[in-house]
Amino acid sequence: MKAAVITRYGSPDVIKIRDVPKPTPAADEILVRVHAATVNRTDCGELRAHPFFARLVYGLRRPRRTIFGLDFAGEVEAVGAGAVSFKPGDRVFGMCPSRSNGAQAEYVSVPERAVAAMPAGARFDEAVVCEGAFYANAVLKRINLKFGQRILIYGASGAIGTALVQLAKSSGAAVTAVAATRHLELLNSLGAEQAIDYTSEDFTRIGETFDFVVDAVGKTTFFRCRKLLKPDGVFAATDLGPWAQNAVLAIWSSIKRSNQVVIPMPRRINGFVGFLKGLMEAGQFRAIIDPK
Ligand SMILES: NC(=O)c1ccc[n+]([C@@H]2O[C@H](COP(=O)([O-])OP(=O)(O)OC[C@H]3O[C@@H](n4cnc5c(N)ncnc54)[C@H](OP(=O)(O)O)[C@@H]3O)[C@@H](O)[C@H]2O)c1
Repeated sequence: MKAAVITRYGSPDVIKIRDVPKPTPAADEILVRVHAATVNRTDCGELRAHPFFARLVYGLRRPRRTIFGLDFAGEVEAVGAGAVSFKPGDRVFGMCPSRSNGAQAEYVSVPERAVAAMPAGARFDEAVVCEGAFYANAVLKRINLKFGQRILIYGASGAIGTALVQLAKSSGAAVTAVAATRHLELLNSLGAEQAIDYTSEDFTRIGETFDFVVDAVGKTTFFRCRKLLKPDGVFAATDLGPWAQNAVLAIWSSIKRSNQVVIPMPRRINGFVGFLKGLMEAGQFRAIIDPK
């Protein structure tokens, strides 16, 4: 099969289209003919091995994975001996495990627990969404967002941010989204009550307070945002932030048992893709993909 192959860290120029062996599904896996895949922030970080210590995870001298791409949608080609949920010809979407080869190839082999049938009526390119939504869901689970609570999402225009806006809305929360000018219309269309342009307005001075402030891009800080928090409010971050300060603050607030700063980490994917399919069919979630 053809695949976008990476054998060393670097710029996108190191990616080469090559012929490689088609994967064989393990017992609990299904082989999917890929119709759509994404390039996302995780792929970009892994390609450049950024930050440097990420090499401890990705591979010290070169990436352990040679094919990137986490999100996919496509058609089942074959199933492993123990896979019971799908059959050849089924239209599916899902997310590849981050440690094994990914979906930027003609075929990908994935555990069936990370796959669901395509949402009814969706095109393949409308269903490559899982990674951003998976992390966004982990954030909302960690902060236990409830109906009627107020959440401000900074960096709301990215894969995680747009998923956060939609999942928070589907939980019945009131969402304030912060992003650059060109994204404001999109954020309103996703249901945000308020969309603030960080390029023309200081979002920390809007004179309102929130149960939760989420930095979905790692470009603001707890100290900048704390005046936006209600007295028992929580600051959640998807990134370590400048000088890894979010990690230090999260450890400190855990020691103090205040949990005022948290870095939510996703756990198991089991059942998540099916949950997302349900939201997509209910019109509560859609993929936001930059075509560039
Ligand atoms: N915790 C985890 O396990 C995990 C997993 C994956 C990703 N992450 C982290 O989560 C963050 C977001 O990931 P993602 O996949 O959503 O990235 P993404 O799709 O690349 O989105 C980032 C968004 O942030 C916006 N942005 C850039 N600079 C900004 C700024 N200064 N202020 C506000 N918005 C800004 C970008 O839009 P414009 O450039 O158009 O403004 C873009 O829409 C990354 O920092 C990544 O490292 C964490």
